[in-house]
Amino acid sequence: MKFFAGVVVTVLVGLAIAGFVFATGRFNVAATAPPDFTDKLAPWVLDKAIERGAKSVTDPISKDPNAVALGLSHYRENCLPCHEVPGVEAAEFHEGMNPTPPDMDAQAVQHQSDAELFWVIKNGIRMTGMPAFGVNHKDEEIGHIVAFVRHVTQLTDAERQALKTGGGEEHHHDTEAGEEAHSHGARSPAASPAPAASASPHHH
Ligand code: HEC
Repeated sequence: MKFFAGVVVTVLVGLAIAGFVFATGRFNVAATAPPDFTDKLAPWVLDKAIERGAKSVTDPISKDPNAVALGLSHYRENCLPCHEVPGVEAAEFHEGMNPTPPDMDAQAVQHQSDAELFWVIKNGIRMTGMPAFGVNHKDEEIGHIVAFVRHVTQLTDAERQALKTGGGEEHHHDTEAGEEAHSHGARSPAASPAPAASASPHHH
């Protein structure tokens, strides 16, 4: 009976302290906060949830011969800013994220099953910055992305180049020249407005 009362008191005191910390704005929500119990608890909860979610996934990886190439172009646009691959850096901002997006060749990613990868990519992970790609990608496209994720440890130079420049969709990465032309073509809509705008006031 004494023991039971002790447990109840401990729990109540714990809740009161947590309530005080939360209600008075003292819980550190900064991305620079040092690791605490949430960083221990959340990954465990996440692992279990991914494991469970993956059980409902039936066809996680695309067998299409172009899957890796198709996945690459999705990856470049949707994933590379946050997740590095060997030889190609992510955007600078990813260093300030908490949790830090893992590199795609990391053990934490590659040890997952195809179905687990599919589930994460489709559904995202809330409150981490990991988006749900199922809101604007078909299952088939997510299967292409999974195929690319599986391929990141064996990237060719041409594929790395394609990730950096935006070329490489489908079969365009056979020649350097073709690559260049393609990447400039792909870049021009984004690149042209700036020079045009700054040049126009001085133009005669
Ligand atoms: C805005 C940044 C951002 C983008 C864009 C993004 N991710 Fe993530 N991703 C994260 C973060 C943050 C995590 C969570 C890491 C954690 O929980 O420790 C994560 C987790 C993951 C994981 C799970 C790793 C694990 O430990 O379970 C995979 C796989 C993944 N992302 C793949 C992708 C793919 C593929 C894309 C593109 C289709 C993508 N991500 C786009 C930020 C991002």
